[in-house]
Amino acid sequence: MKAPEDPDDLPGRIRVVASTTSIKCRAAHKAPWSRNRNMTKQVGIIGCGGIARAHVDGYRANHAEIVALHDVNAAGAEALKKQKSLNAALYSDLEDFLNHPGLEAISICTPPVAHEEAATRALRKNMPVLCEKPLAHSIESGKRLCEIAAASEAPLMVGFRHRFLPAINELKSRIDSGDIGNIIWFDNTFCAPAFGMDKTWFSKRSVAGGGTLMDTSIHSIDLFRYLFGDVIDQHCVWHRHFDDTDVEDASILTMKSLSGVLGTALASWHAGVAKCTIEVMGTKGRLLYDYEKPAALKFQPADGEWQCLETIPSNGFAEEIEVYFETIDGKRDLTCSAFDGLRSVEIALSVIRETIE
Ligand SMILES: NC(=O)c1ccc[n+]([C@@H]2O[C@H](COP(=O)([O-])OP(=O)(O)OC[C@H]3O[C@@H](n4cnc5c(N)ncnc54)[C@H](O)[C@@H]3O)[C@@H](O)[C@H]2O)c1
Repeated sequence: MKAPEDPDDLPGRIRVVASTTSIKCRAAHKAPWSRNRNMTKQVGIIGCGGIARAHVDGYRANHAEIVALHDVNAAGAEALKKQKSLNAALYSDLEDFLNHPGLEAISICTPPVAHEEAATRALRKNMPVLCEKPLAHSIESGKRLCEIAAASEAPLMVGFRHRFLPAINELKSRIDSGDIGNIIWFDNTFCAPAFGMDKTWFSKRSVAGGGTLMDTSIHSIDLFRYLFGDVIDQHCVWHRHFDDTDVEDASILTMKSLSGVLGTALASWHAGVAKCTIEVMGTKGRLLYDYEKPAALKFQPADGEWQCLETIPSNGFAEEIEVYFETIDGKRDLTCSAFDGLRSVEIALSVIRETIE
């Protein structure tokens, strides 16, 4: 299908104007890119490192066939193919990869600095893209990606997998139904002993855009926006424990939503003990989720005992990819849009710029 002159003219499209940027982005529904609705999807992955393995498992859980892999490091693609026993063609060239016969959707699992080129080339071919977080390593790159996504017939979905955890679904429905009253604050902590991070691209600003804020707090920012609406104010304190890196490796971000909810996102790569939790405090009670105990969301009503609400343990990738496929098939509105990706990058990088530059 040929792209209309102005993508805003597509029926059912919602225009959202970014509050802190002048660019236009939109969530799209009644997807014009729908095709092969009932067939097994043939998918490809760009960037065959750590998180690509989780994407392979997520695709398999959704009965998709991984038919093509691309990595600038051929050995990385070969290793993924072998480890996961994939029947996939290996491509050293991005264009050849995108031209793989029958390829219907892709994941981008490269370091952030490489997201823009891969996503741009795919979207210009109207190829659906699931792009890992953060959307981009810079606000400028994120804005360009929003423009490209808006002009494409295919969706760009950002990999904010935490939105799709069954426990987060339960948490959101408890909040939305008023079970814990008006929300006072939200905290999302991602602390873990990740002592080798200084040896990886995660600690290079030119590649990752930032450290803990762009690695894990980007998820916290997205969750905060998903649960409580957009952020109107943000501040940060941070520290660098590693020598020889140029990013923060411990940070505390504070946020305020338009509706008055306050949020914190704590992150560290140096914690001696892992702590990965979400806590939401309301006027009538609170909710607590501990990623170490993924089968239960805890609920404490005001003046009451803790209750355990059973949930399905999951890392969220299978659910995320199910949503990605439903979006491609036009069965639901786009969620985790390029605009959502840009906003989280803007919030994270604005506090880094304020305090570092
Ligand atoms: N959603 C999550 O929970 C989660 C968790 C970890 C990482 N991530 C994100 O996933 C992405 C990848 O992280 P990772 O941990 O898998 O990194 P990684 O270093 O393990 O793997 C990245 C792969 O991309 C390849 N690559 C680099 N530049 C490329 C390019 N221009 N074209 C093609 N391939 C290229 C590398 O050779 C490597 O194989 C990042 O954006 C990261 O933030 C998300």
